[in-house]
Amino acid sequence: MTKVRQYRFLPLLVHILLGVCRGIQQFEETPQYTEVNPGQDAKLICRVLGKRGQCIWQKDQKPIGMHLKKYEWVGRPDIGDCSLWVRSATLEFDDGLWQCQVTPSDFTTQDALASEPARLVVRVSPQRPQIEYADRLIPPGSNVTARAGEIATLTCRARYGNPSPLIKWYVGETEVRTLRPQVNSTEIDNPRTWATYSVCEIMAERSRYGQPIRCVAIHAAYDNPTMSSSTEVRFDVRYAPETRLVGVPTGQLEEGRDQLDIRCLADANPPASILWRKTKGPGETEVASIGETLLFSPIYRNHASVYICEAANAEGESSPVSVQVSVNYPPTISSVGPDRLTTALLYSGASFECNADAMPPAEYRWAQIFTDGRMPLECGTGQRLILTNVTYEQQGQYICLASNKINGNVREVKSDPVSLQVVGAPRVVKPAITEKFVVATTEGSPAKLEIRLCSDPKPRLVAWEWGSTRLHAGEVLESRYRALDLEPLALEDCYVAVLELTSTVKEDQRLYHVIVENDRGSDRRSLMLRVDEPGQIPLVIGAVAGFTVLSVLVMGFVCFLRSDRCCVARNTVPALQQVHCTKASNTMIEDPRLAVDTMERGQQYPSEKRPNPVLKPVPAQQYQQECYQHDPPHQQQHYQRHHHHHGQHHGPHHGPQYTLQGEQLFLKPDRLATLKPHCKIEKPPQYTTFKPSSNN
Ligand SMILES: *[C@@H]1O[C@H](CO)[C@@H](O)[C@H](O)[C@H]1NC(C)=O
Ligand SMILES: *[C@@H]1O[C@H](CO)[C@@H](O)[C@H](O)[C@H]1NC(C)=O
Ligand SMILES: *[C@@H]1O[C@H](CO)[C@@H](O)[C@H](O)[C@H]1NC(C)=O
Repeated sequence: MTKVRQYRFLPLLVHILLGVCRGIQQFEETPQYTEVNPGQDAKLICRVLGKRGQCIWQKDQKPIGMHLKKYEWVGRPDIGDCSLWVRSATLEFDDGLWQCQVTPSDFTTQDALASEPARLVVRVSPQRPQIEYADRLIPPGSNVTARAGEIATLTCRARYGNPSPLIKWYVGETEVRTLRPQVNSTEIDNPRTWATYSVCEIMAERSRYGQPIRCVAIHAAYDNPTMSSSTEVRFDVRYAPETRLVGVPTGQLEEGRDQLDIRCLADANPPASILWRKTKGPGETEVASIGETLLFSPIYRNHASVYICEAANAEGESSPVSVQVSVNYPPTISSVGPDRLTTALLYSGASFECNADAMPPAEYRWAQIFTDGRMPLECGTGQRLILTNVTYEQQGQYICLASNKINGNVREVKSDPVSLQVVGAPRVVKPAITEKFVVATTEGSPAKLEIRLCSDPKPRLVAWEWGSTRLHAGEVLESRYRALDLEPLALEDCYVAVLELTSTVKEDQRLYHVIVENDRGSDRRSLMLRVDEPGQIPLVIGAVAGFTVLSVLVMGFVCFLRSDRCCVARNTVPALQQVHCTKASNTMIEDPRLAVDTMERGQQYPSEKRPNPVLKPVPAQQYQQECYQHDPPHQQQHYQRHHHHHGQHHGPHHGPQYTLQGEQLFLKPDRLATLKPHCKIEKPPQYTTFKPSSNN
């Protein structure tokens, strides 16, 4: 008992004490509200102080008599304990208002007692609660269907319970508070029991789709540990579809290899119908697939497009989601040209174009290919190959290489070859115009002077010239000089021209000129033949070897510097290998001391008018091995034509003969010969000019 209660009872206690003192009977304790389960015993308390009258019990204002095993005194009424046992309580007989009464101690005292009626409730478990929605009873486990955004108003009824059960609502595991309290009213057909209902309003949200809605009736008479009974229905929230895509490829798709499998998953209730559309043009689409799957196995380039997934149900349509599908495929050459064969004039321009169908777009490279086993030579990038100033070396076949990269793999195709035909004047390609070449031999040994040239059309004139002599290809002079026929080289339109000396004498040391000519022009080159004394062989060999090494190095360096002009393959391209320039030759030695006349390209020999040969003094300190410097008389218009003599000795000379230090010099009339003194002199040389006498 709390203090508050003690204080509340204090006046009553005083009143009782006063009453007892005056001999008046008083209630010490009166019956209270009592609940009992059916079949159990209920004890109704009633205690009286100073009791002298008799104890009487009334139920529902009707007197109750004592019956063994039904209504019994708890204690001894004669000493003031009027408490009553209600044995084996039943709803029918015992549920009601009970009152404890005591008759007066004396008819004069007027102290009869009657307690406040106290309710004895014989509990009755209510029936299982039932859920109603939209004026319909919803069987347990069935759907409560509502559109998303609406409020579903549900009623839960629990009937024939005593007392009223407490009703609670749950959505999922969450209790939902009701706006209005539950309503308890007695049943019409059984007024001792209660009809109880509770109304709950639940917002229909997408997230609540499929969740259970539970109505729970809590009552002490339920014979289970939770003392409750519940009914569950399913919240069937209906909503328009929302879509998402699964399986959108992250890498590149390759035609014919990869497959596309995208699913358009629609979240919808009721289930949505799904459609894939393919865009064909601006605002134009066609149905690509019905259902959630868009499948291309394998995928082809015509599948590339923007695809849109649409989903719809009775509640509405999804907002469309689109996916761009691009299909990659390796290049295929659609054209290379403009023609199979392009003819270009020497030193003019030419171009080729290549077209490849590829995704992603192709990158282009060009290479010159050779039929003689040489590796292809890379010579340009880009869709167009532009050759400016074409030369005979650029003549031949070209291929275009188109490549792209799909998922890190490089895919490359080669085009058919296209040919470049170069026509023009002959060009001596070896020795090059910038090179000064010396062919060295020893006295008595043979010598071979060789040039390489390219010409289309083939040269109609190939002639070797020295002194007043001109020897055409195929001719022999004094059986010692043989101008060999033009021999074709592996390179198209290129030839080799050779002048052979079967044995050499000291006088053969001089410059030899070669002239090549066709309808379109001519070219010429000068080669130096050096004839060493036999005794000097070891020294000469040493010098030759030294110069060879030096010139190879110089040539290599020159090649390296000029390699940008060459069509040089890049190392990064495995199919093409680096091409090495091979301009150095061990039979041709560059000698810086020799000033070899060179002709400008394009100069036409027949029309050429050259000044008198100029004699250049050679510095004294270089007079070690130098013997002659002979400049040919180019001013002469007519050359003596030599014919084949088949080993016969040449006839008598027409000009005067001069002998200088035991060596012979042949001159023709009206010719000037300039001789330089022999080497091995201490002071600077003096030049002597001989003029032949006109009367021979
Ligand atoms: C309840 O609705 C769902 C759709 O949300 C449906 O699949 C199911 O069959 C329905 N259940 C009953 C019992 O009607
Ligand atoms: C209805 O009954 C419940 C449970 O017995 C009780 O908690 C509630 O107060 C009652 N409501 C009314 C309005 O009598
Ligand atoms: C073409 O090349 C030649 C030799 O390689 C050169 O002499 C000529 O000037 C060049 N012409 C043009 C137009 O570049």
